[in-house]
Amino acid sequence: MVKPIEQDIRKFPDLESLSRAAAEAIFETACEAVSMKGCFSLALAGGNTPRITYRILADEYSDKIPWSSTHLFWGDERYVPKNHPDSNYTMAYQTLISKLPIPAQNIHPIPTEMENPGKVAVSYEKLLRGFFQNTKADSVFDLILLGMGDDGHTASLFPGDPVLEEKEKWVNAVFAPPIYKTCQRITFTLPLINSAENVFFLVSGAKKKGVLKSIIEESDVAIKKYPAAMIRPKCKKIWFVDKEVL
Ligand code: 6PG
Repeated sequence: MVKPIEQDIRKFPDLESLSRAAAEAIFETACEAVSMKGCFSLALAGGNTPRITYRILADEYSDKIPWSSTHLFWGDERYVPKNHPDSNYTMAYQTLISKLPIPAQNIHPIPTEMENPGKVAVSYEKLLRGFFQNTKADSVFDLILLGMGDDGHTASLFPGDPVLEEKEKWVNAVFAPPIYKTCQRITFTLPLINSAENVFFLVSGAKKKGVLKSIIEESDVAIKKYPAAMIRPKCKKIWFVDKEVL
């Protein structure tokens, strides 16, 4: 029996107001983490939905969030060069990082320049375990941002993928379904995501409506089928959604 989790669902009229609320919640989480531990570890989401949140963080929080104590990571990445248009790093760099007073050593991109996705995954896992080795708490990331596809995938965890059975590793190389332009991916695994203190989902777009409804209702089908339904962080799981999708 899967332990029910408190679903904090925050619904907004549109993507702009959703993004504004998400940016404020990220700010609050950052301040709490830095005041408690002197550091804030944040894993960014890819895709398009987070773009406006990142723009707001860059425009309105560049002098509010303690960026010098913030470390940025990526929950998944496409196996493309960093300057490729499909790169999640490039999207975050252009919308957010390039406008922030954040030290270069606080930015931890997934090293897609390595010769194959398997080596990239091993290298990133080594980096993460090194970074969190002194973490006293039983949680790893302070906050992981996630999107959700209309098939219920999240990060690059796709329905039916064997990676969903992974119990130990933190990072894996996977193939996205052939409908996706960039199939070779590197992704956080469920054990790593579920050891986060907080997870914020940013979900917009009518095509995701049916899947999101069944996930939020925690239907048995959803929990077995949709990776986004398998996300159960230690503390808070907040859904930032707009009226198109719920
Ligand atoms: C990616 C993301 C992926 C994304 C969803 C939703 O690398 O594409 O990690 O999980 O969050 O596909 O994408 P949109 O926000 O573009 O709808």
